[in-house]
Amino acid sequence: MLNNRRCYLVTGGAGFIGSNYIHYMFRKYGNQIHIINVDVLTYAGNLENLKDLEKWDNYTFIRADITDKEAISRIFSEYDIDRVVHFAAESHVDRSITNPEVFVRTNVLGTAVMLNCARDAWELPDGSYRENKKFLHVSTDEVYGSLPDDGESFFRETTPYQPHSPYSASKAGSDMLVKAYMDTYHFPANITNTSNNYGPYQFPEKLIPLLINNALQGKDLPVYGDGRNIRDWLYVDDHAKGIDMVQEQGRLFETYNIGGHNEKRNIEIVHIVIETLLELLPEDDPRRKNVSTDLIRYVGDRKGHDRRYAIAPDKIKAEIGWEPETTFAEGIKKTIRWYLEHQDWLKGVTSGGYQKYYDSMYGNR
Ligand code: NAD
Ligand code: TYD
Repeated sequence: MLNNRRCYLVTGGAGFIGSNYIHYMFRKYGNQIHIINVDVLTYAGNLENLKDLEKWDNYTFIRADITDKEAISRIFSEYDIDRVVHFAAESHVDRSITNPEVFVRTNVLGTAVMLNCARDAWELPDGSYRENKKFLHVSTDEVYGSLPDDGESFFRETTPYQPHSPYSASKAGSDMLVKAYMDTYHFPANITNTSNNYGPYQFPEKLIPLLINNALQGKDLPVYGDGRNIRDWLYVDDHAKGIDMVQEQGRLFETYNIGGHNEKRNIEIVHIVIETLLELLPEDDPRRKNVSTDLIRYVGDRKGHDRRYAIAPDKIKAEIGWEPETTFAEGIKKTIRWYLEHQDWLKGVTSGGYQKYYDSMYGNR
């Protein structure tokens, strides 16, 4: 607690889900919480996502690498952390296929460092923990592998892990470490495994923002393989709400799957993005002429491409009362509207210009 405010250490808060989560938490709790955002700012971390918070005395940004033990333990000794919400990760499957090592380093070693530092700060000499301290590890449904294309089978908390990509293997490793800490040290944690997120602030190398960005510029819309792979899309604010509900209302030591109940084939997503762009762009907007199904290009498939992901979010609904609130029709409109209204953000991200932002904002601090 800091000035009677519950103190959060959020890792990876400058990324897509982390920055949406931080905004969600301040909308919900305002002055009652203090958030310390710890992020090393890789290509995926963008402080512009949070620039409206910079002057707040209950928001603190610390640039640090989660694999750096000294830096992380210093944060735990400087602040009395009540909650850890651990997002920081290398998160893009395609990048993991070309460069797996950094995924192991950040996702596995980084999680081990976070767990160790939290345990050091929270554990009492008798092996119990200081009151009301909790760690939430944010993970993915990709650890469960791939489902048959039957529309009937679903990932559940009891589904055995069968990761295929280096990304999902490294996330599975990080989940196992959290489970090991809970089993070995009775460490107070939860794990959430979540389906594909979409919404504002997503880096445009992931499917939905890539389609929006390319279509507006009249660039090809690359569809891997036959385009019939299925993902279960969840609006990012619904995910943020689910994380908070699990941490405050869930049973400690439990895993909860958070899913969108919203399965779509990739090619359906491509068509929906094109239709929604045409619906939202004003008649006289010159970019309208770029947006067309003629841009669709089937390209070679991703290596080891998982066919279908789908979560049955029954446990979180029954125990905590969470369920997805945003329909895809609503969420995709909000998302596309956000990208249309934040073209500077998109330009900054695609040009790498955002990386200069840190120096201008924080360079001389
Ligand atoms: P992201 O790539 O947008 O953000 C990751 C953030 O972590 C970035 O700000 C980056 O700078 C930071 N980071 C990376 N390495 C770091 C390090 N060594 N030290 C400190 N910070 C570091 O990712 P995202 O899409 O926001 O995903 C966040 C979390 O949610 C990840 O753990 C991911 O596995 C999980 N997840 C994502 C999805 C999804 O659809 N995006 C779905 C389920 C679970
Ligand atoms: P992605 O957004 O990378 O998320 P994930 O691999 O974690 O599910 O990809 C979502 C789906 O879209 C996946 O089946 C791969 C496919 N895809 C394409 O068809 N074209 C693309 O350019 C990208 C980035 C992804």
